[in-house]
Amino acid sequence: MTQDGLKQAVAQAAVDYIQPKLELESIVGVGTGSTANYFIDRLALIKHLFDGAVASSEATAERLKSHGLPVYDLNSIDGVSVYVDGADETDRQLCLIKGGGAALTREKIVAACADEFICIVDESKRVDVLGQFPLPVEVIPMARSHVARELVKLGGDPEYRMGVVTDNGHEILDVHNLSIIDPVDLEAKINQIAGVVTNGLFAARRADVLLLGTSTGVEKRVL
Ligand code: A5P
Repeated sequence: MTQDGLKQAVAQAAVDYIQPKLELESIVGVGTGSTANYFIDRLALIKHLFDGAVASSEATAERLKSHGLPVYDLNSIDGVSVYVDGADETDRQLCLIKGGGAALTREKIVAACADEFICIVDESKRVDVLGQFPLPVEVIPMARSHVARELVKLGGDPEYRMGVVTDNGHEILDVHNLSIIDPVDLEAKINQIAGVVTNGLFAARRADVLLLGTSTGVEKRVL
């Protein structure tokens, strides 16, 4: 099966997984990216079973609305029943690298609010040690050079993602050549650098469930 086919299979598996848990008052958090887009298209078919959604990006909000799904401001609701999103890398402990689509900050906020976080990826995203995918770091623009120097001290090789402005008006540094042995520790260290908004390590709040699309079917891993 193609990578696109695997993404569609895990998107459908996520709908099948959450459907029995949904109640009329449920709010579904929705991630960003091509896998999340397949999920949105399938979620729309069961929109009568839950209240509405919270989006992790402007692009996702637009896609949800185009299907007639109510999109709530996170400040207007009490919580998120379940959050479904893709990732750029996952390890066996369900720690993730996210932010390839520059939506990491809102993704991390929605994940933090969710009772359950379901990550949906094709098998190309699975690694033994995180860091082959450059780690995205969202920065306040005036702090970009300072943050880059601090990231070099942590052993990384930061690269400015030219021309990209996040939904929050910030910039992205992609950090190459990291071998992330302790994701929880590195996530906290990077977040302590002045000028960092957040980084793409999802380790302190990692996925609860991983749905992994493989050539032999969708595998489920639970934390
Ligand atoms: C968005 O910022 C990312 O965190 C995405 O979740 C990630 O890039 C996965 O994207 P695809 O589903 O398109 O591979």
